[in-house]
Amino acid sequence: MSDKLIIFDTTLRDGEQSPGASMTREEKLRIARQLERLCVDVIEAGFAASSNGDFEAVRAIAAAIKDSTVCSLARANDRDISRAAEALRPAARARIHTFIATSDLHMEKKLRMTREQVLEQSRLAVRFARNLCADVEFSAEDGYRSDPDFLARVVEVAIAEGATTINIPDTVGYAIPELYGEFIRKLRERVPSSDRAVWSVHCHNDLGMAVANSLAGVTIGGARQIECTINGLGERAGNCSLEEVVMAVRTRRDYFGLQVGIDASQIVPASRLVAQTTGFVVQPNKAVVGANAFAHASGIHQDGVLKARDTYEIMRAEDVGWSANRIVLGKLSGRNAFKQRLQELGVELESEAEVNAAFTRFKDLADRKSEIFDEDIIALVGDESVTAEQEYFRLLSLSQHSETGERPHARVTFAAGSQELRAECDGNGPVDASLKAIESQLSSGAELLLYSVNAITSGSTESQGEVTVRLQLGGRVVNGVGADPDIVVASAKAYLAALNKLRSKTERVAAQG
Ligand code: KIV
Ligand code: ZN
Repeated sequence: MSDKLIIFDTTLRDGEQSPGASMTREEKLRIARQLERLCVDVIEAGFAASSNGDFEAVRAIAAAIKDSTVCSLARANDRDISRAAEALRPAARARIHTFIATSDLHMEKKLRMTREQVLEQSRLAVRFARNLCADVEFSAEDGYRSDPDFLARVVEVAIAEGATTINIPDTVGYAIPELYGEFIRKLRERVPSSDRAVWSVHCHNDLGMAVANSLAGVTIGGARQIECTINGLGERAGNCSLEEVVMAVRTRRDYFGLQVGIDASQIVPASRLVAQTTGFVVQPNKAVVGANAFAHASGIHQDGVLKARDTYEIMRAEDVGWSANRIVLGKLSGRNAFKQRLQELGVELESEAEVNAAFTRFKDLADRKSEIFDEDIIALVGDESVTAEQEYFRLLSLSQHSETGERPHARVTFAAGSQELRAECDGNGPVDASLKAIESQLSSGAELLLYSVNAITSGSTESQGEVTVRLQLGGRVVNGVGADPDIVVASAKAYLAALNKLRSKTERVAAQG
């Protein structure tokens, strides 16, 4: 059996299914480039048939990425599979990932199909996909809760039709490590042709065991592909987290004896990029990528670490891409230096006009903040006004007054298309007053689900504040992110960014709907 563990990243597909995490084509492209730098083996770029936007994003990623295989999800029908193949046409290496549910519960209640119908549809779907692409993955959705004998028949048929990877998801995060590992092992034994495909695991984190389950699928079950997302992003409690499985396998190579091709020094930059893009912040005590993951607060630990690092450290922070906040640019840096740093960070803006817009914002920021870090630059280019994305609502100016014992008051001027709107309002605090002022003009009716502020770079009150605002309207949930040294301004920007996302009416079909 191979000692190579394939890392299949689905941040851009399963991760994006997380309410509010939807990304634009440019954002997805930027993350895909970072995933390529991270050296993931397979990038699941999206679900091409779900919307025109997703189709375009898969196609753009397929055209841009050269070193990783680019994959699109497709339900087990000819239309979805054709769309996936079409979107993947420019790819150097393409994979079609087709799936159908195989648990009795899903077949009866969701698909309203019999076992024999699902078996037949799996056969036809893999056959059709194999005629369009040499690399075909077949997933049995809710595989872990499926009848093992029936599942074995489906898998046997998929392999016979040419599926090269067989994925057995724990779609609802119900598994327990030993049981899941055994499930995969016995399933492989039941399938006579099991050696002709790579076996894959895909675990959701509802009981907090996605990483443990995936690893058991590998050690006990013999799987050689793990499907995962950066920061464990994903619906509900998320997916298996890439950084955790990769660092487990690398740190405990003595136990796993497996090779992963990941460039671990790109883990933290990838984590930050995904968090900043989606607005899903990383909890401080998150393994590997949390702000505290390598911070030794207790005096005893610090003493030990100073004497010998390995007393309390099993990984080195720098190996996973943590670096001390580095001042990279300042007020006097010119356009060329700025452009070069963008290139080094892997940020490719599409036109000179975008570079100019980014540079103007950089100068504006450098006037107010003497030291500019990589994180500031990433936040700056994530700003909608820099990218080609239309931004209907734009903050033009904001002033606010707050004083002990007085009710805060804010005045906001913002653009709505070509119109300039002004509003002022009182509030419980300056942020509340500013958002209420915006609402007094727009009456969007959106419900605020989440408001959070984070410092972009740690250790200084000079840091920019990064605000995430999550809004819900008519069943849609969106996140808006805004950054500024002034957190009230960052809040207004985040709020308007979320309203911009609500305006863009991208309808998409849910993969598991
Ligand atoms: O969780 C799941 O079952 C999935 C499949 C579509 C692979 O995401
Ligand atoms: Zn999933």
